[in-house]
Amino acid sequence: MCVEAAPKTGCKNSSCGCGGHGRHSQATTRADPRVILALKFGEEAEHKCKCGGGGTCPRHYLALTGLLLGGFLVLHLATNALGLWPEKFQAAVNRNHALGSLLPVLEVALIFLPLTIHVALGLCTLRREKLKFGVEKHHHGSDLRQWLQRVTALIMLAFILFHVITLHRWFGGRFDPGNAFSSASHAIWQFWHGQAAGSFPNLLFAQFYLLGIVAAVYHLTNGIATGAEVLGLVSTPVAQDRLWRICVIAAPALLLAGLAAWYAFAVR
Ligand code: HEM
Ligand code: HEM
Repeated sequence: MCVEAAPKTGCKNSSCGCGGHGRHSQATTRADPRVILALKFGEEAEHKCKCGGGGTCPRHYLALTGLLLGGFLVLHLATNALGLWPEKFQAAVNRNHALGSLLPVLEVALIFLPLTIHVALGLCTLRREKLKFGVEKHHHGSDLRQWLQRVTALIMLAFILFHVITLHRWFGGRFDPGNAFSSASHAIWQFWHGQAAGSFPNLLFAQFYLLGIVAAVYHLTNGIATGAEVLGLVSTPVAQDRLWRICVIAAPALLLAGLAAWYAFAVR
């Protein structure tokens, strides 16, 4: 978040004015209400970071599209967890496909367009700053949290490309809505046609799913906490801390849904 008045504890990036690094600087701000009142959050603050943007920081769009995609991912993992009961999963897929010609419109508007914008802005950020540790931040999360956000971004990019191309009908993928559970399970658990399910090459693809799910859960739950801060949706240290705690509690629940889906489609 761009914040004009920096607390006294040391922000290493003087150009960013982010208000200092990590939890240590937050504790100082919380102790003195006058410092909190002097802070300017979100749009009010002057944009003077090194992101290369003009009036509005491109990270605002990254955060906005990230939050939108987050809604999709929560629904996606919850629906896939229904794979534990194949007939319920089929019923959920039938409900989606009952939308008819509205379905592709919603897929483009709510998933593919935001994802393309998010990935384009994300790759620009990564090209500029690489995977360096301790780069300029717009939130109070630690350097490690931000670094992991970027590492998981790259894992997700590889995973989503592979996943969508191998499953989605628009790319000739193997998912058949009329035979939802077994077609998806076959594509995930027996990706390599010539090899038996459970053979080493097929096991590797199934493990890649596990990695994709873990990366996605981290990227999303950490990203909600930092993205809300970047957008100025949580503007006091107390609210930021509360949201972070909620995300820490939500992460295992979301991971459980993802692992249930993985178990249903890849192992059972
Ligand atoms: C469904 C998939 C995805 C979701 C739900 C998602 C969500 C988010 C959220 C909520 C943020 C936080 C924004 C902030 O702190 O300002 C974020 C940041 C980011 N995302 Fe994603 N994202 C997804 C996929 C990707 C992919 C495939 C990439 C690959 C390039 C990517 C790259 C990034 C980067 C580079 C950041 C900023 C990290 C930083 O500023 O340190 N994301 N994402
Ligand atoms: C075991 C876990 C998962 C299963 C069983 C699964 C299943 C599926 C299926 C069957 C589709 C095709 C939907 C269609 O063509 O209508 C799909 C699409 C997609 N999945 Fe997953 N998925 C899983 C995990 C993930 C994860 C972790 C991510 C994000 C990192 C993800 C992102 C996507 C995206 C972006 C699409 C294309 C959007 C769409 O539904 O049209 N999936 N998935």
